[in-house]
Amino acid sequence: MKKTTLFGSLLIFMLAILFLAMPSLIKNRDMGNRQAVANATNVKKVDKKIKVGLLQFMDHPSLNEIRQGFYDQMAQRGYVDGQNLTIDFANGQGDQSNLKMLSEKMMANKDDYLVGIATPAAQALKNVANDQLPVVMSAISDPIAAGLVDSLEKPGKNVTGVSGDCPIEKQFDIIHQVMPELKTLGIIYNSSETNAFKTVQDAKKIAESMGIKVVEKTITSTNDLGQVAEQLSKEVEALFVPNDNTIASSMNTLIAVTNSHKIPVFPVADAMVKAGGVATVGITQYQFGVDTANVLADLIEGKDAREYPVVFTKETAPYINSKEAKLLGIQLPEELVKKAKDMGKEG
Ligand code: TRP
Repeated sequence: MKKTTLFGSLLIFMLAILFLAMPSLIKNRDMGNRQAVANATNVKKVDKKIKVGLLQFMDHPSLNEIRQGFYDQMAQRGYVDGQNLTIDFANGQGDQSNLKMLSEKMMANKDDYLVGIATPAAQALKNVANDQLPVVMSAISDPIAAGLVDSLEKPGKNVTGVSGDCPIEKQFDIIHQVMPELKTLGIIYNSSETNAFKTVQDAKKIAESMGIKVVEKTITSTNDLGQVAEQLSKEVEALFVPNDNTIASSMNTLIAVTNSHKIPVFPVADAMVKAGGVATVGITQYQFGVDTANVLADLIEGKDAREYPVVFTKETAPYINSKEAKLLGIQLPEELVKKAKDMGKEG
């Protein structure tokens, strides 16, 4: 009797240990994958393991692709997480107080370099770093308006990194190709995302010059996205979505509404086309991450952030979602189908 109880508690104890160890086992498997990349490259010799704090504003497919490009290119440059450097990754979950707390933690951790993906993350890092540590900003729409750098040529504030203008003209050219008769276009974005603002201003100018009437509506969080999209869908023939993190994180909510009204959505990024947009010419998000890693590797190898001009990710490509177009009864022009990458096939 006693023996069975002992055996029973031992079994429960072992199961509990296994359960607790699970997350780190999974994490180690991830590391294993990364190290596979590392084995293909030369790991650079360093005097002391480099510590990098990597802060991502929130979880959405575009930012996740940027992060992947960053890890891959760091390895290409000879810096491999877990070997000659440690990348201390944190996700702000789209929340300002989280971003502040996580940035402070990175400072307390005595990281050597900080990297922020998307505007609010880079801003939070800059505030805590306060000129003491180099901050590399990644995929920032408007670094000057965001207060991250003094100038693009000579940043000055120990913050440099990667920016990228949405190819707005090319995007409107695609909208025109798909819907040559378009008369009314809705634009939806989060009023507190300064990064989306410039794109919206540019989009409005171009639309007006093309004789398209713009109806602009803002949201304050994902909570009012459904309702605002519903309203807007009743007033326009198509929607344009700028580089807005809030909407990028909730494309399914937006697309559910627009699909029910048979309204096509033209976003600015490949991942947003995959999530139900019809078409875009967009910056390859992965490339943002590659360019960011190149800046960080250059700083590690002796360049000064204050003197390092902001890099612009230029690589753009056309993307379509043939599945979504079919659902909406839209015939995509053959020429576009021929040259664009179809994001709607697999999903
Ligand atoms: N440019 C955005 C910023 O400055 C971040 C971003 C990168 C983004 N790729 C995106 C936002 C795609 C929405 C969709 O914060």
